[in-house]
Amino acid sequence: MIDESSLRAVRGHLRATSRIVVLTGAGISAESGVPTFRDAQTGLWAKFDPQQLATEEAFRANPRMVWDWYVFRRELIGKVSPNAGHRALAEFASRHPGRLTLVTQNVDGLHQKAGSEGVLALHGNIFDDQWLDTPKPCCNADAAAAGSPPYCDRCGNLMRPGVVWFGEALPMRALDAAQVAARACDLMLVVGTSGAVYPAAGLARTTAGQVVIINPEPTELDDAADIVLRGKAAQVLPQLLLEE
Ligand code: OAD
Repeated sequence: MIDESSLRAVRGHLRATSRIVVLTGAGISAESGVPTFRDAQTGLWAKFDPQQLATEEAFRANPRMVWDWYVFRRELIGKVSPNAGHRALAEFASRHPGRLTLVTQNVDGLHQKAGSEGVLALHGNIFDDQWLDTPKPCCNADAAAAGSPPYCDRCGNLMRPGVVWFGEALPMRALDAAQVAARACDLMLVVGTSGAVYPAAGLARTTAGQVVIINPEPTELDDAADIVLRGKAAQVLPQLLLEE
């Protein structure tokens, strides 16, 4: 149960500021049915070893297994819909143009599906494909040979999912824009992330603005928070963003 005075305080900040950043993680999609990574029991990393599935070395060692895991996740994510949390963010942004920068670690595309524009997707998009090695003139993504993964039938280059794996750089333009927005904002909502993965989590530590965490469980960023709302994203965000 979230106390009404904390909700009122955050609503007050939201009304007062024109520079808001929202940083989201896997928890915002939990109520849509997408498993998180680090929740005990239900999190993906409780069942699977990230070193076997989310690194370039793992993909090179066992491309079929890793590709099939992403196909399985694409199928799961393809069947789910944005929830009230994603929708509240999209609606707030369209009612208050230019005030909200949405930064996500999620690769599921649910913010975009809910209608959010200009989402800074720090970890890529699970539905994108890209070549594993620098493509040669023979590598034509539209004509990749069918396989798990698809491949170039001239040089053998493999397709891989367009997500950021452990040890890889984040997309530079999205990260730069997120860092600039984080430094300049007056208010940052940190929603549904454990705060365990950098540089994304670092955004909450570099902002001079108020930091509000929305999460039913403790996170590694709680010490950086001005206000912690212990609740689920799909319940708390509509109360904050859509109620005047
Ligand atoms: P985690 O799985 O680390 O954390 C999910 C967070 O969501 C936890 O703090 C949960 O308490 C919280 N949570 C669960 N249900 C929620 C709900 N209904 N509403 C709000 N919060 C809820 O996921 P991330 O922090 O996103 O990286 O993980 C960061 C990165 O680690 C991911 O982007 C992924 C992963 O390895 C890559 O794939 C590169």
